[in-house]
Amino acid sequence: MKAIRFLSSCSMILAILGQPVSSNVCSTVTPRVRKDCFPEPGASELECLARNCCWAPDNTPGIPWCFQKLDSCSVLPASERIDCYPDSGANKISCENRGCHWCPTNHTSVPFCFYNSKEEAECIAKFPINKRIDCYPQPGATQEACEAKGCFWCTTNLANVPWCFYSADGPYGYYLKSEPQKIAQGWRVLLSKRDTVTLFGDDISPVAMDIEYHTKDRIRFKIYDPSNERFEVPLNIDSPPFAAEDPNYEVEFINDAFLKLRIIRQSTGTVLWETTFGGLVFSNQFLRIKAIIPSSTIYGFGEHEHSSFKHNMNFVKYGMFSRDQSPAFGNLYGVHPFYMCIEHDFNAHGVLFLNSNAQDVTLSPNPSITFRTIGGILDFYMFMGPTPENVIQQYTEAIGRPFMPPYWSLGFHLSRWGYNNLEVLQDTLERLKEFDVPQDVQYGDIDYMDRQLDFTYDKSNFFNLPQYVKALKEEGIRYVIVLDPFVTKDEPPGSYKPYDLGQEMGIWINNSDGFTPAVGKAWPPGNSVFPDFTNPLTTEWWIQLCTDFKKIIDYDGIWIDMNEPTNFGTGQKQGCALNNLNNPPYVPDITNRNLAEKTLCPDSKTYLGHHYDTHSLFGWSQAKSTFYAVQNATGKRGFVVSRSTFVGSGKYSGHWLGDNYSRWKDLHMSIIGMLEFNLFGIPYVGADICGFNEDTNYELCLRWMQVGAFYPYSRNHNSLESQEQDPGVFGQKFATAARTALLIRYTLLPYLYTLFYHSHTKGSTVIRGLMHEFTSDPQTHEIDKAFLWGSSLMIAPVLTEVKLLNPILIIRGGDNVKCNLKE
Ligand code: GLC
Repeated sequence: MKAIRFLSSCSMILAILGQPVSSNVCSTVTPRVRKDCFPEPGASELECLARNCCWAPDNTPGIPWCFQKLDSCSVLPASERIDCYPDSGANKISCENRGCHWCPTNHTSVPFCFYNSKEEAECIAKFPINKRIDCYPQPGATQEACEAKGCFWCTTNLANVPWCFYSADGPYGYYLKSEPQKIAQGWRVLLSKRDTVTLFGDDISPVAMDIEYHTKDRIRFKIYDPSNERFEVPLNIDSPPFAAEDPNYEVEFINDAFLKLRIIRQSTGTVLWETTFGGLVFSNQFLRIKAIIPSSTIYGFGEHEHSSFKHNMNFVKYGMFSRDQSPAFGNLYGVHPFYMCIEHDFNAHGVLFLNSNAQDVTLSPNPSITFRTIGGILDFYMFMGPTPENVIQQYTEAIGRPFMPPYWSLGFHLSRWGYNNLEVLQDTLERLKEFDVPQDVQYGDIDYMDRQLDFTYDKSNFFNLPQYVKALKEEGIRYVIVLDPFVTKDEPPGSYKPYDLGQEMGIWINNSDGFTPAVGKAWPPGNSVFPDFTNPLTTEWWIQLCTDFKKIIDYDGIWIDMNEPTNFGTGQKQGCALNNLNNPPYVPDITNRNLAEKTLCPDSKTYLGHHYDTHSLFGWSQAKSTFYAVQNATGKRGFVVSRSTFVGSGKYSGHWLGDNYSRWKDLHMSIIGMLEFNLFGIPYVGADICGFNEDTNYELCLRWMQVGAFYPYSRNHNSLESQEQDPGVFGQKFATAARTALLIRYTLLPYLYTLFYHSHTKGSTVIRGLMHEFTSDPQTHEIDKAFLWGSSLMIAPVLTEVKLLNPILIIRGGDNVKCNLKE
């Protein structure tokens, strides 16, 4: 009844204003002004519709999926609208950026841009949303708790706008303690904390800020505790002894009403970064800094599945903490706090926030970026470009140039989890041969192992694997094995060298006591321990095992998986103790706001420090050890692909985009992911062709083979129990089309190899968005359905279903899937 009344009054208002009534109330509700209709967790479409609300999933965190049937035109009768934009030039975007509602009418006397209530009008007039600095970043703010902190409380319907805040222009944060001091590389400034508001206590004061003029195009600014060492990422970016001369940037330090730092492009005067220290928080377990940036054309930050390459800046928040999680919205396998920004005059610059703690960033429309982390220091590097390619060249000069992949690794790779026995593997490769589909690399996933134990093979189902690998190699097909980073501790003593030797060498990640190994559960039988690759001894252990195993299976490269690191429980077997590392006062916006979920407890100890600080470095440190292990074992250029990556991983490994789905959407997302990893200095990247999770289908898989033929890393990979999807399984017609696409790739391999050479020597990207080459054409800034190989080849693939191709009939028979083309 209520809903009907509401709808009829809504149509009346609209009729008076001379507007047609929307036929679909739900589709007209702008996501940012949605009113949550299902605030409790676990909304589903059915339950939502049962409440007579609208259901529309949205990728932006904080935007409710289940919301009231209320659009901007219906929030208030026209006569009650309070003008939110008395000045000229309002449009939907500028209006909503003020936190107001936009509903044009035919009547000029009725404001188009208006507040949705008197309270909101007063509140926004007093505290514009772009001046609000969040004073209660953790969930659960109440007016009482907020005001007890000395902050202001003002609710709003707008998603992701803080309700509890202080003003960016107020006496908060840090002030200048003494005059800036000259140091060899630039300037040092001491800042003291004002005694007004504290977010979590434990504030550090004074803090020091060093501004180092590294090169003409690279500046570093870091804020740290001058009295106590805190965790710093061990990336060892060269820090030259003296300040660079004639840099392409200028630094302004303004000490008027509000202390500010500005970094300016020297040639144009564009302010690339402006920070007001009123918003700075530097406490033991919560560090925050906000920067106003010159434009909202930004790219990067990972690893996530982003629905567009160019970011949406509408108060979007991204958590970063490495996690075993299929691409969907949330923090994924790697951590890359790096973005590239295209300025209004089309110059480009990049910024790295070098920090490995759990963190999140908020992108806001003013435009600004807020960085929050729960440890380490605030360590920023800016790269001046001025072209997008220059930015990535300068970035990889700092973090390490990408490895040079072997030529064979640019061919087509085939993999699946669940061949389950050698016969199926052989049959699969036979049909590729029969249809003359080129293949250069074959993979062994965990089913080649004996009970999923690293450095073993299943002597019954894969009885002849060593001989088969030898035979493959004689035909020119390389073999890559998967290795997981957990080692069972429960095999009979003396029977499993990886554990016995590791135990003897003392190379495991330990519990908080620093000496008893952390025990979790993963694939292998029994419980597992986890090698600590931040310990140099672990590299020795790993090299020895990889070298020994090469004598058994003559592999050519190693695929390292589950290295976030994954543990199937939440923390160790015995759970995580209650302490400030396991339960920090603020947990960034990561999945389930839980640092121990699917991994180890944060207070576990690694060689370089607590897992709290080093967790997201696991994949990076393992890739480094594995790169040396492969080089040592094969005596050739190393080939490693890693699921978890961090800043600088590209020097040692490539990456695949993880456990995607056999869905059309994922085909498009794969392009965005690859473009992003090229920005992150990991150009050897691809997604599982035809999709990993779920069954694929003929048309999707064929289109994917066609796009995947142009992935830098071209691998078809599939999950356990999913229908087979190698390019031979769908019959002659499919195989011929896949072969045609792959042959274009093979014809162009000298070009691709040259691009990798440039990436290895100069840091250029291998695939790139059109905006890299046509930067001054803003239409290219949003293109993410097409991409370039280097500067000279554009791939504009089909990414949607057209149902033009013949469907196929799949008949399951035993372990095998037979297929029969209806043609
Ligand atoms: C993980 C990997 C996937 C692999 C599977 C079994 O899910 O991401 O690629 O096939 O583990 O090893």
